[in-house]
Amino acid sequence: MKTVRVNTNTPYDILIERGLIEKTGELVKGVSNASKVCVITDSNVGAFYGETVVNSLKAAGFDTAMFTFEAGEKNKRLDTISAMYSFMADFNMSRKDLVVALGGGVTGDMAGFAAATYMRGINFAQIPTSLLAQVDSSVGGKTGVDIEQGKNLVGAFLQPVLVIIDPNTLETLPDAFLSDGMGEVIKYGCIKDAKLFETLEQNNAYTIIEDIIFKCVSIKRDVVERDEKESGERMLLNFGHTLGHSLEKIYNFDGLSHGQAVSIGMVMIAAAGERAGLTEQGASERIKTLCEKYGLPTSDKASAEEIARVCQSDKKASGGYVNLVLLKKIGESFIKKTELGKLEEFIRKA
Ligand SMILES: NC(=O)c1ccc[n+]([C@@H]2O[C@H](COP(=O)([O-])OP(=O)(O)OC[C@H]3O[C@@H](n4cnc5c(N)ncnc54)[C@H](O)[C@@H]3O)[C@@H](O)[C@H]2O)c1
Ligand SMILES: [Zn+2]
Repeated sequence: MKTVRVNTNTPYDILIERGLIEKTGELVKGVSNASKVCVITDSNVGAFYGETVVNSLKAAGFDTAMFTFEAGEKNKRLDTISAMYSFMADFNMSRKDLVVALGGGVTGDMAGFAAATYMRGINFAQIPTSLLAQVDSSVGGKTGVDIEQGKNLVGAFLQPVLVIIDPNTLETLPDAFLSDGMGEVIKYGCIKDAKLFETLEQNNAYTIIEDIIFKCVSIKRDVVERDEKESGERMLLNFGHTLGHSLEKIYNFDGLSHGQAVSIGMVMIAAAGERAGLTEQGASERIKTLCEKYGLPTSDKASAEEIARVCQSDKKASGGYVNLVLLKKIGESFIKKTELGKLEEFIRKA
């Protein structure tokens, strides 16, 4: 078993091993004195793994119930949370009881938010089952929901007491979501780890996914620990995300997934860096080839002007500047504070 210790205010372990969900009960027992456990899952993940997790918790002596919501980002909203509160209250959960999030990022964000706010906060453990949730949302403590005015606009910070990553769960994850997660995996290689990038180039990542997840989680842990307040280094995690986010907006968060948008954003910003003489020549081509290898798109019909315009309106509040994450070369990244007015020129192809 691989373990990543995260030293936040309340330190916790991220455990990674094939087949680990079958040991959920005993693992939770080691970190919680709850008597009741509420497993929160979505309709897809619950059907595959709900029973295994619930049975394991019951076998370890926990009084366990499962709340299932309909899968999908569109349900990441406050009325789903409200239904969770009612379920937890009807189940007579108290302050010392525990929420277990079983699912992708949507489940983790919502179960975490429900836990952070039910009775002013109870503990929660995470069993992320999508690649994205395993390599991204398992570190950082962000929870929340979308509201009409924007994604993730309401939320709270809550560190889990334990994260259980079972790479076997990826066997049932639809290919499109696997690719999506690979966007983030490739990002970690780009910003911090040339060796990881090469490993992804030279192997089929899915055959060594346990090592890859361990590497990515460790990178995010290191970055977050060095920068808990999210001022400096943590911004590097946004590589490909500034332009990517603008693209997602252009598509109204529909039709282009997050990982796809990040993939396009990474290639665009690396190419811009090369043109400006800031990024080693050839980096964008390598990123493009790697993203394509894992089924991600690397260009879009949206113009630089359009992308810059959306980014400008997005970043209006930040004083006319945007912090672009650029690569010096694969594995080494830095922040370049850029005037919003100069963004279009910077990303426009000559
Ligand atoms: N808190 C954070 O730090 C953080 C970081 C990144 C993303 N997020 C959030 O995560 C969400 C995206 O995450 P996601 O892509 O995991 O979305 P998701 O939870 O909707 O999962 C994607 C789809 O895959 C299904 N699924 C998940 N695991 C499966 C499995 N093992 N087998 C079969 N089907 C499975 C889900 O039911 C869903 O249909 C967004 O809402 C985003 O805001 C949060
Ligand atoms: Zn992302």
